[in-house]
Amino acid sequence: MTRIAVLADIHGNADALAAVLADIETQGITRMVNLGDCFSGPLAPAETWDMLAARPMPTVRGNHDRFLIEQTPERMGRSDLAAHEDLPGAALEWLRGLPPVLEMDDLFLCHAVPGDDLTYWLDRVTPEGHVALRGAGEVAELAGGVTRPVILCGHTHVPRLVRLASGQMVLNPGSVGCPAYSDTLPVPHRVEMASPEARYAILDPAPGGYAVSFRALPYDPARMAARARARGREDWAQAVLTGRVG
Ligand SMILES: [Fe+2]
Repeated sequence: MTRIAVLADIHGNADALAAVLADIETQGITRMVNLGDCFSGPLAPAETWDMLAARPMPTVRGNHDRFLIEQTPERMGRSDLAAHEDLPGAALEWLRGLPPVLEMDDLFLCHAVPGDDLTYWLDRVTPEGHVALRGAGEVAELAGGVTRPVILCGHTHVPRLVRLASGQMVLNPGSVGCPAYSDTLPVPHRVEMASPEARYAILDPAPGGYAVSFRALPYDPARMAARARARGREDWAQAVLTGRVG
């Protein structure tokens, strides 16, 4: 077992990704995994692609990665369209080749839950629009037939470590590049880290499993915010500057 850096939900934030990659290098970590939603958003998708292409790592496809290759530009949401316009064909080709889940050694990788890339796993949205910890039974049920001891997921951008009754852990490292967003389904809700930090997690081999470290790295989000504003996306600018939905 070696140390592993777990990245998710980069969302085209090249400067946050640079901070994370520098931290990983400083720590001497050579093994990385990526849980998807790599590019979507008005930040720096093509730069992010260049950085990821230079550092091949096991990667699963997120829902927004899938939208970029499944939907026509006319049907895309604004954030997906911004990425689609910026990305070279090679990036879209790479997305087409990504698997929805990966299993290797003691790890299971998925974007949201094992069966789909949209369901929130460790959190749920209440009818009032609050994002809250999901009950133990529901979390275990969503693990389905996964038997690997360490299950990695992203999608909600909420860092969490949940231990199942089976002894398996489900880990969400948080989002590298998008610390706040709002969504309308199943009811309007928002996810806010309340800080702009770039987030990821480290798995360190330890007696009985892995020790988990959640990292929250300061970086200067000004350039990403300017790029969002240049595309008319003040909401994204506020998100990367403050970790709050404006
Ligand atoms: Fe997602």
